[in-house]
Amino acid sequence: MKIEFTTAAVVCVPSDSALPRTAIPSAQAISAMISAMNGALKMPLKSDEKSLYARMGGESVLNRVIDDTIERARVDTTIDWSREGAPQGWKPTPENFEDFKRGLSRYVSEEIGGPQKYEGPDMRQAHKGMRITNEEFDAFMNHLRAALANNNVSEKDQRDLTRVFEKTRKQIVQEQAPEQDRRPDRDASGSSGSSTSSSSSDQQPSGASGDDRIGNTGTKQ
Ligand code: HEM
Repeated sequence: MKIEFTTAAVVCVPSDSALPRTAIPSAQAISAMISAMNGALKMPLKSDEKSLYARMGGESVLNRVIDDTIERARVDTTIDWSREGAPQGWKPTPENFEDFKRGLSRYVSEEIGGPQKYEGPDMRQAHKGMRITNEEFDAFMNHLRAALANNNVSEKDQRDLTRVFEKTRKQIVQEQAPEQDRRPDRDASGSSGSSTSSSSSDQQPSGASGDDRIGNTGTKQ
């Protein structure tokens, strides 16, 4: 929700106001107040509130958490790291995992108020064709939780960072509906009325713009 103060909302001063003339702010002052209020709304709730990046301890802690998460995840056989079928192709080599960690770290940094910026494809594009399942995503999230606890991140920060990752689920998970384009009884429009689609977070149309957008990265290519 975006709240915007407008002049109309503020200049409702009754004409028979008992206020002395000098107490009624000028149009210029009102306009300055409005921009100050609008500016304040875009900032964190408290001006002294630190970003999650700063609270966690900056780049070194973030990198440790990412490194730990990926090191745990890469040996987890629940997750298929070969990602065969991904159009861009990917091999789980040590070098590629290091690149992945670097990209992930930049992505997360940007999401949580850090200085490093991610300039790669958005999450839907980066994982396109990999057919990552909810089960794999859950496994990944469990490694993240373990890594956060292992690196002494506070409980609040653990929750906040987990939420940042969780928000990408709809863009990353792409479970194929088993019947898709293959069932002979499926009509051409694709609207068979079937309820076999597996979970709520799969089958996102590529232009979907729900609550899965995080920050300003949703539109990056
Ligand atoms: C089971 C879960 C996941 C798997 C199997 C997976 C797999 C991959 C693979 C193989 C790549 C490399 C693609 C390429 O270079 O062509 C990649 C890229 C990426 N993934 Fe994931 N991913 C998973 C979850 C996540 C999550 C939860 C995030 C959270 C934000 C994420 C963020 C990224 C980013 C930022 C990149 C781009 C890295 C870069 O090249 O700069 N991934 N992912």
